[in-house]
Amino acid sequence: MSQAQISDVTTSIVIFGASGDLTHRKLIPALFNLFIKQRLPENIQIVGFARRPYDHEQFRGLLRESLEKAAKGAFAEADWETFSQRIFYVRGNLTERDDFATLQSFLYDQEADNADRLYYLATAPDFYDKVVGHLHGLSMNTEESGGWRRLVIEKPFGYDLATATALNKAIQSAFNERQIYRIDHYLGKETVQNILFFRFANTIFEPVWNRNYVDNVQITVIEDLDVAQRAGYYDQAGVMRDMFQNHLLQLLSLVAIEPPVSLQADDLRNEKVKVLSAIRPVAATDTVRAQYDGYCGTPGVAPESQTPTYAAFKLYVDNWRWQDVPFYLRSGKALARKASEIVIQFRRPPTLLFNGAQRSGKLAPNILSLCIQPDEGMHLKFETKVPGAIGEAQSVDMEFHYSSSFAGTTLPDAYERLLLDALLGDAALFTREDEIALSWKLVDGILSGWESPQAPPLVGYAPGSWGPEEAEILLADDGRVWRTGCGDH
Ligand code: BG6
Repeated sequence: MSQAQISDVTTSIVIFGASGDLTHRKLIPALFNLFIKQRLPENIQIVGFARRPYDHEQFRGLLRESLEKAAKGAFAEADWETFSQRIFYVRGNLTERDDFATLQSFLYDQEADNADRLYYLATAPDFYDKVVGHLHGLSMNTEESGGWRRLVIEKPFGYDLATATALNKAIQSAFNERQIYRIDHYLGKETVQNILFFRFANTIFEPVWNRNYVDNVQITVIEDLDVAQRAGYYDQAGVMRDMFQNHLLQLLSLVAIEPPVSLQADDLRNEKVKVLSAIRPVAATDTVRAQYDGYCGTPGVAPESQTPTYAAFKLYVDNWRWQDVPFYLRSGKALARKASEIVIQFRRPPTLLFNGAQRSGKLAPNILSLCIQPDEGMHLKFETKVPGAIGEAQSVDMEFHYSSSFAGTTLPDAYERLLLDALLGDAALFTREDEIALSWKLVDGILSGWESPQAPPLVGYAPGSWGPEEAEILLADDGRVWRTGCGDH
């Protein structure tokens, strides 16, 4: 997480897959915001590369439409006029070497000799190795001219450990690890970065952040949306590949890491790798897999599909800090609402001073909730005495909300932060090869457990619900319940 200054040499951002949804919904809006905030290099140019037959003006017009729609009336017209002149379009096929040669000569014409270049792979994953192959074949990966070359890759990074390893190998045959930026957009979320600040910029929480005080940790990332337009991709991926391999395991590693020596990319990533490598293989009997009712009727989904759209499981991090503390993770689509949160549930106090409260089951454990979205903030639940009553306790909530403490500040979109970091050469919020491999190892283990005789059945759940009963039972068997401290459940 560097504070480096943005350079003033020509910088080209080349987006492969420029006509796609990601470019319209995330990349261009993020770049436009950075431009307005004057955080982009002065001599920036953005070059879209895709198959559709647009010219520069048509491409700009389409991007403008998407931005205007998203801005809901607050579209910054004058800024757009200046910004859009930095956007260009090169028509080409991702599999055709000649089209890459056209792109290369376009870039040469536009750039100074020592220009920097960021290649952004916003294509379907099947094309990643082809694009990298062409960039390599045409020496578009080399830094001999003096400018840097960096490659940003979207998830999914592989389909399992074997394919991720092969993809890494293909990419590393053209780019060094220091040139590769694997995106997990959760790491760009303001509240996810705040996990580190919360833990390491305060002294009061770190002493209790361990097995002596923590009873269990829960990570919930749920969505109200169903698979909608992405059914073709999703039916192949399922919730384990789509959400757990990346976002949930990244959240877990940030919550569980030891204090890094610094926030430099490798110091931070080394610590995350230690957490991921300490995770005990997950027993199939500690997992729940489910599919929302009606999923198989979605166009693009196989009629007999067994793809889970929801999963929950328990895992352990076998190290000094976390030994025997269960981590419960759950994620799914078509649920009651959108919410991402991490709950740290602390142990109960050791003595029974307040017998009334204890007997009536009212002495609740302290709960710290890190609310990642939608109402970003933190909640700390603790017990207080009910006025006038004898020994009766009530839980109260101490709350911090970004929306009130930083009123008037709009939280930047994750892509803003990540694009800026990639331009600055700061890879701290990008995942490294070994993190990807360890995450896949864990996910592959769970998926193969689901092929074994111990596999839990694929159960159904009603759209709009909180998921299957089995997920409640998973915790009830341990005498626990799912907690949601950021909102009502
Ligand atoms: C993506 C998944 O990585 O994350 C989607 O592919 C999911 O299926 C999305 O909807 C959730 O991201 P966010 O930022 O909306 O929580």
